[in-house]
Amino acid sequence: MTTPICDFVKKYTEKQTVRLHMPGHKGKNVLGFEHMDITEIDGADSLYEAEGIIAQSEANASQLFGCNTFYSAEGSSQCIRAMLYLVCVSAEKSNGRPFIMAARNAHKTFVSAAALMDFDVEWIYPEHQNSYLSCDISAQYLDKLIEQSVRKPDAVYLTSPDYLGNVADIKQIAQVCHKHGTLLVVDNAHGAYLKFLPQSQHPIDMGADLCCDSAHKTLPVLTGGAYLHISDKAPKDMAAMAKNALVMFGSTSPSYLIMQSLDMANRYIADGYTEKLEVLTDKIDKIKSALEQCGFTLAGTEKLKLAISTKPYGYTGSELAQILAQKDIVCEFSDPDYIVFMFTPQTDDDQLEYFARTLCSIPQKAAVTQLPPKFSKPQTVMSVRQAAFSKSEKVAVEDAEGRILASATVGCPPAVPIVVCGEKIDSAAVECFKYYGTDSCRVVK
Ligand SMILES: Cc1ncc(COP(=O)(O)O)c(C=O)c1O
Repeated sequence: MTTPICDFVKKYTEKQTVRLHMPGHKGKNVLGFEHMDITEIDGADSLYEAEGIIAQSEANASQLFGCNTFYSAEGSSQCIRAMLYLVCVSAEKSNGRPFIMAARNAHKTFVSAAALMDFDVEWIYPEHQNSYLSCDISAQYLDKLIEQSVRKPDAVYLTSPDYLGNVADIKQIAQVCHKHGTLLVVDNAHGAYLKFLPQSQHPIDMGADLCCDSAHKTLPVLTGGAYLHISDKAPKDMAAMAKNALVMFGSTSPSYLIMQSLDMANRYIADGYTEKLEVLTDKIDKIKSALEQCGFTLAGTEKLKLAISTKPYGYTGSELAQILAQKDIVCEFSDPDYIVFMFTPQTDDDQLEYFARTLCSIPQKAAVTQLPPKFSKPQTVMSVRQAAFSKSEKVAVEDAEGRILASATVGCPPAVPIVVCGEKIDSAAVECFKYYGTDSCRVVK
């Protein structure tokens, strides 16, 4: 696998060029890594008009992922906006106001995209009541929802895998979407690696039209590196429009450090990544069994994630996170009910062993019986855009009941909104805010 971006930067840095161009560090190691950080000089190509080394590198990534793959140096967040823009453009062609049915556990970027692009959203709530982080939807349930909908959605939008490691049945869901002439868009921020399991579970292979992966979440890529993938089966002009879509939401100075890491990740993936994953998932499966034997209750089925529903073991997720932090183990995420850990082949065997041993050494206590407040379905009073562009004020959540939420009020991670801009904050929502530790929010004035 070639690494054209890395090769170019290496050669450039070796030449000791007088850099009278941005960035300001001029390649001097003021902070330690600047010499590798260049900008779009001659020969370095241009991310949004790629014809040279970036185009070659993206072609390598496309070959690995088996679809049209484009780089982002600004995370899945940029890719999500780009995907939704592509949906809006394709909806405009059919003369409609864009309409998207979205699973309610969408990342806040989906909500900010709705504010920016002003498409209509109908939320799909989970079939069974569970955490606000998850939204279990079967293909049959979705089929019924689309059939009963007054308007045919231009796209269905799902987050899979979710923060707790639940993976949707993308294959069946894609069939339902396509039966109704609807696009399937998947936020696969947590699942870049799914492509490289011995049997791919990547959303594009399962039938999704568009998806994004945060390469930095599960591959050894610098923070910010992500992919926008477009299926060959998606409407023809989507891949041709991809760069126009990404440039709408991206900086004009994309990071070459991030692009180099995406470039080098192609070689890393091609050089036995599937085998490494197979070995690792085997070890994680064993750790999961060992933890269950110690009395822990696991959630989710995702291969590289380990989520524990902590209350049956006698702790909140946040309490367990604190205990582990004192022993130098830092989790990905915790809340009152869950703690989540993420592993990659870069997690050493010693670390895996220490993690499992430490967790099992924490004594089990009487189960915590306090349940999370029931997740409400707040009433929509105005569009996301109207609310997000309204004059707003910050109020304590105790004083927010009856007010309309103006801007996404959400901790990150997990950045999944409990109430969405434009919705009325009811008493159940106030309870949820308090339970998850949110003490103030912005409401429409
Ligand atoms: C489900 C989900 N989607 C999207 C994002 C945004 O990804 P990024 O940080 O790569 O922009 C995140 C980030 O945590 C996420 O958890």
